[in-house]
Amino acid sequence: MLGFSGRLDPLLRRPFSIHNVMPAAGVAEAVELLYKVVGKATQTLCQQQPGKMVNLLGPLGNGFRIPTDARRIYVAAGGIGVAPLLFLAFSLYHKNIDPVDCRLFLGGRTKDDILCRDDFLKLGVSVITTTDDGSDGDQCLVTQPLEIAVEHCRPDIIYACGPEAMLACVVGIAEKNSLPCQVSIETMMACGMGACLGCAVESRLESGKYWHGCVDGPVFDANLLKF
Ligand SMILES: Cc1cc2nc3c(=O)[nH]c(=O)nc-3n(C[C@H](O)[C@H](O)[C@H](O)COP(=O)(O)OP(=O)(O)OC[C@H]3O[C@@H](n4cnc5c(N)ncnc54)[C@H](O)[C@@H]3O)c2cc1C
Ligand code: FES
Repeated sequence: MLGFSGRLDPLLRRPFSIHNVMPAAGVAEAVELLYKVVGKATQTLCQQQPGKMVNLLGPLGNGFRIPTDARRIYVAAGGIGVAPLLFLAFSLYHKNIDPVDCRLFLGGRTKDDILCRDDFLKLGVSVITTTDDGSDGDQCLVTQPLEIAVEHCRPDIIYACGPEAMLACVVGIAEKNSLPCQVSIETMMACGMGACLGCAVESRLESGKYWHGCVDGPVFDANLLKF
């Protein structure tokens, strides 16, 4: 969760995914964020001068879990939902998982929303893009090539992050094909610590039960959530 000390607007910290962790001069590690400017906090963030302090609380919640025997891995990203998936891809290759086939299905409204393609390609991940206007890749929803790929060549697991409608569709594809699937959800958050209920998401396991997106997630096994 990232905020700005001493400012009343934006008052609350905002949640961001870890995009990358890397060595940095003088400190043990640097954390990289990838963000889209949509409102006050992201506007303020992009106006920060280098060296200026921000208020960071974390890491909070969980991350993607990687089965050690996963060899064919499909990853679906919608827009800025790609942010945590690069860190996942680094983890796949740096934790000796060594997938034989890792494919990223990367969708956006236009070519400007197709982010990080080269970072994934450098890791050896195949990238399939789609856009709503056809300006990059096929003109269709990203779930379309994902579904075709799943039916032609069954993966061991699917990971996804993006808009809720896209996640619902990915989960549907996984369930239809009896595949494990983990999704990172982007529900609104306020405290990040399980205290305010701002991030409640309905459980599929038990009627009337809710998860806290901030402490139980943001990554969930697909079968735990109601879309
Ligand atoms: C676990 C998690 C990880 C995230 N990781 C990233 C990331 O890596 N990069 C990134 O750019 N963003 C990420 N987000 C989304 C980011 O936290 C919001 O966009 C944030 O609210 C931006 O703050 P703001 O003040 O700039 O905009 P706000 O003023 O807070 O929001 C601007 C507009 O976006 C809408 N909005 C805000 N948050 C959401 C949401 N979660 N879902 C739908 N609509 C929303 C608001 O209703 C408003 O209309 C993540 C969210 C979660 C929960
Ligand atoms: S953000 Fe407050 S309980 Fe999750």
